[in-house]
Amino acid sequence: MLKPIIEAHRGYSAQYPENTLCAFRQAIAVGAPSIELDVHASADGEIVVMHDASVDRTSNGKGAIAQMKLAELKKLDVGAWKGPEFAGERIPTLGEALALSDTSNVAFNVEIKAFSSTKVVERLVALLHEHAPRGGSHVVSSFDVNALLQVRAVDSGVPLCILGGNAAKILHQAEEMDFPWIHSHFSTVNGDVVAAAHAQGRRVMIWTMDKPALFQHYVRLGVDKVCTNCPAEMLAAQ
Ligand code: G3P
Ligand code: MG
Repeated sequence: MLKPIIEAHRGYSAQYPENTLCAFRQAIAVGAPSIELDVHASADGEIVVMHDASVDRTSNGKGAIAQMKLAELKKLDVGAWKGPEFAGERIPTLGEALALSDTSNVAFNVEIKAFSSTKVVERLVALLHEHAPRGGSHVVSSFDVNALLQVRAVDSGVPLCILGGNAAKILHQAEEMDFPWIHSHFSTVNGDVVAAAHAQGRRVMIWTMDKPALFQHYVRLGVDKVCTNCPAEMLAAQ
């Protein structure tokens, strides 16, 4: 049985502040071959790494990322909310995050949360090339099909992953639009979906899986990638 790729969801986010360089470095340190992160565009068109559209939950500031410039975002502390020992962490730009693959060869799954400007999409694609892992490539995922199609319009070679809560539904969309990956909530993934995806030459990622016993079940189903907040534990459970 093939082992799935273990992907650290927002970095090693169970123990470290999500979507920070600290959480990414810790994921690399425990041997995760892949890291998922979420991106938004700032008011001045820089691509920054954060899950929510506003900075309120994971920083000491308030406001919408889309209305803040990079310089303003960089002043925020994005570590202290998780624990005082993480104080001083700054919001990473996508370039700073992807640069970790220059020395570690880790691959990133860049999840586009929201942006629509072609200029920003072109910047994202340029960064993916600038920091491509040796012998592989980063992937781009989104719940928003249009965001994926925008990436394809800029560079048809970027591996695209459609995200959704219903595996059968997104497999259908993936077939229609020829996306190589479906990224689905684990609860809707079963043996039939995995077999159908594989028969089409597509691959299946499940999120977010933090329970070793359940993890084994999905390994037996043959899923290709497992996105987890606990990469060390899932690597140990393989
Ligand atoms: O890529 C899987 C997962 O990140 C999708 O949901 O809300 O954690 O970004 P969310
Ligand atoms: Mg995400």
